[in-house]
Amino acid sequence: MIRVDNLSVNYGAVRALREVGFEAPSGQITAVLGANGAGKTTLLRTISGLVKPRQGAIYIDEFDVVGIATENIARRGVGHVPEGRGVIEELTVEENLRLGALSAQVNLTDALNEEYERFQVLGERRKRHCSTLSGGERQMLAMARALIARPRVLLLDEPSLGLAPQVTAQLMRTIAQLCETENLTVLLVEQNAKSALRIAHRAVVLHLGSVVANGAAADVAADEDLRRYYLGVVTS
Ligand SMILES: Nc1ncnc2c1ncn2[C@@H]1O[C@H](COP(=O)(O)OP(=O)(O)OP(=O)(O)O)[C@@H](O)[C@H]1O
Ligand SMILES: [Mg+2]
Repeated sequence: MIRVDNLSVNYGAVRALREVGFEAPSGQITAVLGANGAGKTTLLRTISGLVKPRQGAIYIDEFDVVGIATENIARRGVGHVPEGRGVIEELTVEENLRLGALSAQVNLTDALNEEYERFQVLGERRKRHCSTLSGGERQMLAMARALIARPRVLLLDEPSLGLAPQVTAQLMRTIAQLCETENLTVLLVEQNAKSALRIAHRAVVLHLGSVVANGAAADVAADEDLRRYYLGVVTS
């Protein structure tokens, strides 16, 4: 479970998040929607401890992680798949996965095998350099690299970016399945709002750093007035 309370982030004079508050329950996907610059990436980076907020609290299962070092937040069960995926091109699939497991308390062989079972194509390509992977395979690797540390919270920043519609649909099914089988708390940042709302239980819509909607995904999807905030057209 994640609970964000009164969270504000500034970059110099830019107010990237303004008194943001919402709750993301365990075992559910919470979509985070909003136009370019709405503050979506900043929100995920602040939860991970990469950005320090000006004010506010971020509870991960009742424990406020604000002010805690990124690696300790990761140890508390937060997995982050960054914008652009962040896999290391020069390394093989397996080497990337080993990096993901580095600071985690897991048996490496078991953990690797589990990920190869979960994502069979990664098992088949374990000795290949990442530069040879397709976009969809890279996204799977990025997720596996986060999952290998056995997180309870998974932060996904635009996982469908650059993927073909069919690959995106498959990826969304994988995320939905993962959330359910692992009882994960998933925050799914997407420009592809339609795909995200299809699998999300809840949705938070950001506009210029503020929450303009927070509720059941079906209700957000049905509210036509909200679409201007996340379908790219920003009017104010
Ligand atoms: N490192 C930074 N320094 C200064 N301003 C920043 C920095 N990172 C983001 N911003 C600004 O903060 C605001 C929120 O940016 P953020 O990247 O969180 O938005 P986003 O919703 O992820 O956008 P996108 O859809 O383009 O990924 C924007 O106005 C952006 O220009
Ligand atoms: Mg972003």
